[in-house]
Amino acid sequence: MKIEGSIALVTGANRGLGAAFARGLLAAGAAKVYAAARDPARITLPGVMPVRLDVTQPEHIAALAHELRDVTLLVNNAGIAEFGSLLDPNAIDALHRQFETNAVGPLRLVQAFAPVLAGNGGGAVVNVLSVLSWLTMPGTGAYSASKAAGWALGNALRQELKAQDTELLAVHSAVIDTDMGRGIPGQKIAPDDVVRQVIAALEAGQPELLADPTTQHVHAGLVAQPRAYIGA
Ligand SMILES: NC(=O)c1ccc[n+]([C@@H]2O[C@H](COP(=O)([O-])OP(=O)(O)OC[C@H]3O[C@@H](n4cnc5c(N)ncnc54)[C@H](OP(=O)(O)O)[C@@H]3O)[C@@H](O)[C@H]2O)c1
Repeated sequence: MKIEGSIALVTGANRGLGAAFARGLLAAGAAKVYAAARDPARITLPGVMPVRLDVTQPEHIAALAHELRDVTLLVNNAGIAEFGSLLDPNAIDALHRQFETNAVGPLRLVQAFAPVLAGNGGGAVVNVLSVLSWLTMPGTGAYSASKAAGWALGNALRQELKAQDTELLAVHSAVIDTDMGRGIPGQKIAPDDVVRQVIAALEAGQPELLADPTTQHVHAGLVAQPRAYIGA
């Protein structure tokens, strides 16, 4: 899809990658960017329209879909990561929280905004996933499961949305230089770099973006020997 003239809704737009999406989409010519946050007072970027949205609250999502009838691009960016052993009894609660935020919330948003996107000619959905959709390390099990669920749901939704000319772009990335990536050692990709690639992928109509060499390597490792997900 063309970004110029598009009208975007970005979830989790108050900081991190979401703030970079809001900035980058405006710079690329989006006509309007709705910057959604649990606390819209924390949206400080000039030129965007702050809106309240907790992606785990179905009534917030329904109200927004009722109100924002002009959206042509939905960016499912908001997410949480809670790392810890799956053998810890608290892991089940952490799993529920991450599924609600990282998989169920984005699905609810697509359900609610699909008619809006259809009414505006199709448009597109961006689902921000992770290299950890395909890979687990000790401590990432619940987060990885939530992102793997987001990946599977997106693959199904892409096929269902085709009938209304809505594209779905899945974005997989290794560590991004945001609050979530803080404390994780190693190379980090800049949020603005991810957004630049996402905009190019949307313009090219790609279904999937692997944003960095680590993600590309892990993806290739899904069919290599030894399999990347067996224990890299
Ligand atoms: N950073 C990485 O290394 C990395 C790598 C791959 C993929 N990702 C994915 O990239 C996306 C953006 O993450 P980030 O790195 O920008 O993380 P971040 O800096 O921690 O920001 C997360 C954003 O999501 C929002 N959020 C969390 N729960 C929410 C909810 N229930 N409703 C609405 N907003 C909510 C946060 O809002 P509050 O300010 O209110 O908490 C914040 O705006 C996530 O989906 C993440 O899983 C991140």
